Amino acid sequence: MPIPEKFIEELVERSDIVDVVSSYVRLGKKSGANLFGLCPFHSEKTPSFSVSPDKQIYHCFGCGKGGGVISFIMEIENLGYRDAVAFLARRAGMTLPEETNDAESRRRARMLALNKAAARFFYSQLSTEGGRAACEYMARRQISPEVARRFGLGAAPDSWDSLEKAMRAEGFTDLELADAGLVRRGKSAGFYDTFRNRLMFPVIDVRGNVIGFSGRILGDGEPKYMNSPETLVFNKSRNLFALNLAKKSKSGYILLTEGNIDVVSLHQAGFDSAVASLGTSLTAEQARLISRYTNEVIIAYDSDGAGLKASQRAIGILEKLDLKVRVLRMTGAKDPDEFIKTRGAEAFRKLLEGSENQVDYRLNTLARNYDLSDTEQKLAFLDEAYDIVARLPESTRREIYAAKLAAMVEVKEQAVLTDVEARHKRLLRHARGSEQREAMRVEKRPASGEKKPRYDNLSSAVGEEGVIRLLSFEPELGVKLELPGEEEFTAPALREIYHVLRERIARHESVNPAMLSGVLSSEQLSLLISLQDKPERLANSEQAMRDYIRKIRESAGGGSSLSLREQADKYRRSGKGYKDG
Ligand code: UTP
Ligand code: MN
Repeated sequence: MPIPEKFIEELVERSDIVDVVSSYVRLGKKSGANLFGLCPFHSEKTPSFSVSPDKQIYHCFGCGKGGGVISFIMEIENLGYRDAVAFLARRAGMTLPEETNDAESRRRARMLALNKAAARFFYSQLSTEGGRAACEYMARRQISPEVARRFGLGAAPDSWDSLEKAMRAEGFTDLELADAGLVRRGKSAGFYDTFRNRLMFPVIDVRGNVIGFSGRILGDGEPKYMNSPETLVFNKSRNLFALNLAKKSKSGYILLTEGNIDVVSLHQAGFDSAVASLGTSLTAEQARLISRYTNEVIIAYDSDGAGLKASQRAIGILEKLDLKVRVLRMTGAKDPDEFIKTRGAEAFRKLLEGSENQVDYRLNTLARNYDLSDTEQKLAFLDEAYDIVARLPESTRREIYAAKLAAMVEVKEQAVLTDVEARHKRLLRHARGSEQREAMRVEKRPASGEKKPRYDNLSSAVGEEGVIRLLSFEPELGVKLELPGEEEFTAPALREIYHVLRERIARHESVNPAMLSGVLSSEQLSLLISLQDKPERLANSEQAMRDYIRKIRESAGGGSSLSLREQADKYRRSGKGYKDG
């Protein structure tokens, strides 16, 4: 059953795109009729993501993504059309007709219900014989019952089927359990519990859904952790352990750690903004998720070599999103959990206060690769260090770090500063040059990252684009004028959009892109919106429409009317050397 058009209309009306987008993206000042912010769909430093309050659409000039409020939720929450509609409906206080009829959203809801029931089961085991070993383990790790409750920690008993039995008694099937990764299929017949004799950490998303589990062995042994597999509701690279709690912290920063135990330990000691990246190295998606809640991250990874390497990587990812990054340097303990156990919370707080900003951290890390008593090595070190300091935008900061560098290598401050400033100027010139080049590229290709369709008949495609653009602005033209048939369109991508627009106009339905999320794919919608961004002569739209139609008809029959340039383009595109940028 499709969702009634009337319902979508009201939903879109009640879900202002600026409001909705603002809970994910910091929208800056107005430029013309649009608001701009950093695109949530790709990494960038200068805002190219625009939101139009008038048209109720968004469009990123960087990656080319565009759509209305429903598409936005589909993309950012990673939901299907119906789920996105349901999501917005809940937000707008509307009841979706036949919400439960969609197979995927029903499966998703069932899996979340199952996960929640499983979490309750694991938690309840803590007060039974089956959870005794886990309780003893928690006591050994000094995890308090109060904190265990806050995190919803639990125990998977040492048994092959206790979870399976309990969940079946609650009406879930083995297949549902298997889909959620809670049981596995045995060699012969039947299923057995995935998590046995483990301390259970539920993974809870920012909306409060239990999306998966992480189970630690009670003591030594392999594998140390078992995690839920990727499921309909669980994607490790898009979630962080304990972000559901940390997002409410008043600390003003997020503490990024490696381990679940570190997180629990930190929260218990009062550092309530600790999260962990679920055993993966930090992903861009996780960083983006963090940036929704804070603009400062303190990295508190393990102090071993792997931790150092992971910190370097994380810095790069976080800085791309303009987050302020500091790195904690722990000595005498392998991780935050051990540090707090041996030195106490106060010492950790001191560590936080003294945590190095990323420039200090990088310089110190870099220095460790060189023997600074050796002249040649000193120079090689400086060469790399200049690159870090010269990139700082503020001159005061460059001066402070130049002084620091000078002390490290025992050279006069002024000498170092002169070199840093020279390097800074060079970088600046270089950046200006490439910015200009970039701008020119953007001029030529309206959206640099956009997947532009390849047009076999460019000249006709220009006409086809124009017809679509005018039609989307003034649907009445579709009634007033005799439009070309779909078969006259040469570009398949455009033909499909044209087909949808004409059908909707014939049915007197809206062709506003904000209403088209359910009928056009994300690519088609992005294409339509990018077409709308091109200038158009709306003052005399009927004449403009006739011109476009003539262009299509004149170009019919292939290459004969193509200009030389267009023929060359066409040849190149069909030839073997052509690469889609
Ligand atoms: P750690 O080995 O540092 O675990 O792995 P931990 O949580 O700090 O536990 P303790 O303090 O050593 O007892 C860091 C994270 O990597 C993932 C888990 O998410 C863990 O919290 N991991 C680790 C796995 O997914 N599988 C493993 O086998 C080990
Ligand atoms: Mn650890």
